[in-house]
Amino acid sequence: MKTRDVVLVDGIRTAFGKAGEKGCFWQTRADDMVVKVIRELLRRNPQVKPELVEENVWGATTQEGDQGLTMGRTSAILAGLPDATAGFSVDRMCAGGMTAVTCAASEIATGACEVAIAGGVEHMGHHPMGATADPNPRFLAERLVSPDALVMGKTAENLHDLYPDITKRMADEYALISQRKTARAYEQGKIQQMIVPMSVYTANGWMVADRDQQPRPETTLEGLGSLKTPFRVQGNVTAGNASGLNDGACGVLLMTAELANKLGLVPKMRLVGYAYAGVAPDVMGLGPVPATRKVLRNTGLKIEDIGLIEMNEAFAVQCLIFMKEFGLKTPDDERVNPWGGAIAFGHPLASSGPRLMVHLMHLFAERPEVRYGLGTMCVGLGQGGSVIWENLQTKQAK
Ligand SMILES: CC(C)(COP(=O)(O)OP(=O)(O)OC[C@H]1O[C@@H](n2cnc3c(N)ncnc32)[C@H](O)[C@@H]1OP(=O)(O)O)[C@@H](O)C(=O)NCCC(=O)NCCS
Repeated sequence: MKTRDVVLVDGIRTAFGKAGEKGCFWQTRADDMVVKVIRELLRRNPQVKPELVEENVWGATTQEGDQGLTMGRTSAILAGLPDATAGFSVDRMCAGGMTAVTCAASEIATGACEVAIAGGVEHMGHHPMGATADPNPRFLAERLVSPDALVMGKTAENLHDLYPDITKRMADEYALISQRKTARAYEQGKIQQMIVPMSVYTANGWMVADRDQQPRPETTLEGLGSLKTPFRVQGNVTAGNASGLNDGACGVLLMTAELANKLGLVPKMRLVGYAYAGVAPDVMGLGPVPATRKVLRNTGLKIEDIGLIEMNEAFAVQCLIFMKEFGLKTPDDERVNPWGGAIAFGHPLASSGPRLMVHLMHLFAERPEVRYGLGTMCVGLGQGGSVIWENLQTKQAK
């Protein structure tokens, strides 16, 4: 089967709130956050009439309550897309949104549809991680997985055991850099352009959620060093060097390159390839390493060909391992997360994969000399996902 080029035309997200009663989205439904993203994608791209959107694909880790009933279909109806727009939902935990995008892109590539909206949402306030899951007792009774595998922070502690040269101090330094980069990017107005403001009702009345709640620009190394290690006595993982618990939605608009040109849209990046790979569940943070090796192999590219890397910062240790395995400069490499990462922004599970893509889309515009960019992330129970995009906002393309 001959495949077609798939391009990302646009992407946008809600602000990322803190999960829980103090979070700005506590009284907002997850599906309404998705609707906000879909409507904004269409508002920003008026050439894309709703009738053109053939598929609406959404990832969420918990698929019940306000994230249930097949988000891909419910959000299409709620957003005013026509009855003819199909929709479905996927779950690959943290990489749910990434998987939604690669599924939708594959449909476009193989001719199943021309235009799709895809993304991820997670309202971790309404759906605390794993709260309603009922893991099969065989997992533990038959020792199929270590009990640590079900607690992400413990899997990060295990990574410190596996790489004893990566110390807590190094993880804290990495976290500090992430916070600083995000603070700088906010000061320069880089982050605001990726967020659709949303009116939300809170305990203090109506407000506009237009900024992430989690970043802590005031972070210091001393402050990080004094935090508790909730996952192990005298451990290494803290609230400061881990991603947080957050609410958010992020989505992208995909289509064939041919149609984008016909509609007069400016495609921002072209999908080059993607791969998912599994690792042992109790060291799930290793996932991006084999997933990236696989996508590089599949696409015939080398890590040196990749000029920008958006890496989801579930935990600092897991990012440092990735950088070490690929020979990147630690604790900071100018190719990696130039505007910071999930340690600062937060990580509303399934929405983070598309967020990495939206960052790439904007970073590509600023670095026209870069040809290829990678988005990569780890996944609970031991997986990694990696996607490579080609920059279409290059000097050559312009
Ligand atoms: C680590 C974790 C348990 C912390 O949860 P929490 O206790 O609700 O986090 P908080 O934001 O309240 O932070 C805890 C404390 O650290 C402090 N803190 C957090 N970040 C800080 C920073 N950068 N600098 C200084 N202090 C900081 C907070 O102020 C708070 O202090 P307090 O207890 O005195 O109020 C939680 O964020 C977590 O589970 N993260 C991982 C999420 C995850 O697994 N995702 C999936 C990945 S695969």
